[in-house]
Amino acid sequence: MDRLLAYFGPFFQTARAALIRLGGLAVLLLNPKRAVAILWKRQHSTLGPARGSAGMGLPSAMKPETVDTIAATAPVVAPRAQDITKTFYDGMLKDHKSLLAYFNPAHNVPISTLQPDALAASVVAYAINIRDLSPLLVPKGPVAAICHRHCALCVVPPQYVVVHDNLMAAVGKILGNAVTPQIAAAWSEAVLFLAKACIDTEESLYKMAEQRSGGWSGLETFEVVEIKELAKDIKSFSFKAPRGSPIFGQAFEFTGGQYLSLKVDPEGDGLTAPRHYTVTSPPGADHLQCTVKKIQGGKVSTYLHEKVTVGDKVQLTAPFGIFTLESAAEPAVLMSAGIGVTPMVNFSKALGANVKLAVHVDRAPETAAYRDLFAASGQPLLEKYTKSGGRVSPKELVRETVEKAGVGNNFYICGPPSWMEEVSAELVKAGAKSVETEVFGSQLAQSGCPFKTSGCPFKGAA
Ligand SMILES: Cc1cc2nc3c(=O)[nH]c(=O)nc-3n(C[C@H](O)[C@H](O)[C@H](O)COP(=O)(O)OP(=O)(O)OC[C@H]3O[C@@H](n4cnc5c(N)ncnc54)[C@H](O)[C@@H]3O)c2cc1C
Ligand code: HEM
Repeated sequence: MDRLLAYFGPFFQTARAALIRLGGLAVLLLNPKRAVAILWKRQHSTLGPARGSAGMGLPSAMKPETVDTIAATAPVVAPRAQDITKTFYDGMLKDHKSLLAYFNPAHNVPISTLQPDALAASVVAYAINIRDLSPLLVPKGPVAAICHRHCALCVVPPQYVVVHDNLMAAVGKILGNAVTPQIAAAWSEAVLFLAKACIDTEESLYKMAEQRSGGWSGLETFEVVEIKELAKDIKSFSFKAPRGSPIFGQAFEFTGGQYLSLKVDPEGDGLTAPRHYTVTSPPGADHLQCTVKKIQGGKVSTYLHEKVTVGDKVQLTAPFGIFTLESAAEPAVLMSAGIGVTPMVNFSKALGANVKLAVHVDRAPETAAYRDLFAASGQPLLEKYTKSGGRVSPKELVRETVEKAGVGNNFYICGPPSWMEEVSAELVKAGAKSVETEVFGSQLAQSGCPFKTSGCPFKGAA
């Protein structure tokens, strides 16, 4: 068979290419509007011309002596990694003020250390795995998490040069004379090699996003078409591309569980970083919707709840994210707490009778969104309300869950990071088939890899 394919394969390929060209010609003649839409959709991006790694002079392989130097210096760099990344962010954000439009200050010093922690963990994991990077490259693994987040934020290739230069400056500042020219050259090459891998992966994700129905890359203007109050301090916001937009009137394809990123401008300086919100409209709908909990002291969620009205314009990036179903055909258990219910909305619809149990923990029925959706789903439910019933320990919650649904399920969890860590650990202990989590913050700083049943190279994570 292989020999037949080898012999006739080129013929079939030529014939297929000719048929595709003929099909394209037919679409062009019979339905020129559709042909223009297809061509336009492929190109629709607001990212600007700097795309992909071609022409940047980035290394596509590391020299063997670079690999040896990184492996040898990893134990020296690891204990100082957080000092390096804190210095890196401080220097970079002072010198490149426009980057404040990408980095949420609530994730950085002095408010929190999420950004330096996530970058430090990724640098250490990279150095430790430098001889075999495959654990970092697994599906839904660390590189996938980083690249999806970067695409959601519209990161573009020239910014990698800025990151490289500032990271190298921070390494020099923190490690001082320990950084010989040979060590500096090795780390520089390793960072540029990683940059190339990320840029190439991100370019393929951007292309994927552009080619989906209703797809685009970069920030696109949308109009708020509906706002609904779903529960105390929780509102859903629906968006449509306005008339004249290249994606006006299209159906929006994405994978259930993915998040859109929303950019608003409360300060009028364009420097508020986009925030991510799980899409709660179904894939293929004529609008995109997200569901937002108002966070005390939270800049964007408060602005959305208090200031945004129907008819306002916002900017969105296309849905990205790796918290997606392993399979809609396999039995699953959905476990959420608070606003962590949002990914479960599309999971519940896609899984149907394969949801063996939907577990939700909330303060009270009036603070829980989507109760009606789950009640109507016919799926077995387990609701816990802490105001009336007190806090149920993760151990007890998992015991009850496993008693009702068994362990042979894919478990999808979304809620506060520490709760998810405890619930995941109990599920893994109980022998759960697979466990995946989504952090509404920094996945890599607060939880490590999303999958909990196989090893994660992020040893430093919570
Ligand atoms: C993948 C993903 C999916 C998500 N999906 C959803 C979703 O479906 N629904 C949802 O509601 N959220 C979701 N989130 C969370 C969302 O992206 C935002 O993080 C959330 O809305 C808070 O943003 P904010 O701008 O209101 O708060 P921020 O301004 O980012 O503040 C965050 C926290 O920092 C504190 N803080 C901010 N500034 C200061 C300061 N100067 N001093 C002291 N403390 C400060 C705030 O009080 C707040 O507690 C998701 C996040 C991710 C990563
Ligand atoms: C090789 C270089 C890079 C590495 C190793 C890296 C690593 C990371 C990691 C680990 C995260 C956290 C992801 C998560 O927890 O889910 C992250 C987030 C982020 N990255 Fe990068 N990154 C790199 C380059 C860049 C570049 C070039 C930019 C563009 C300026 C950028 C902008 C961001 C932003 C804005 C976030 C979100 C930060 C936040 O929480 O507010 N990164 N990156």
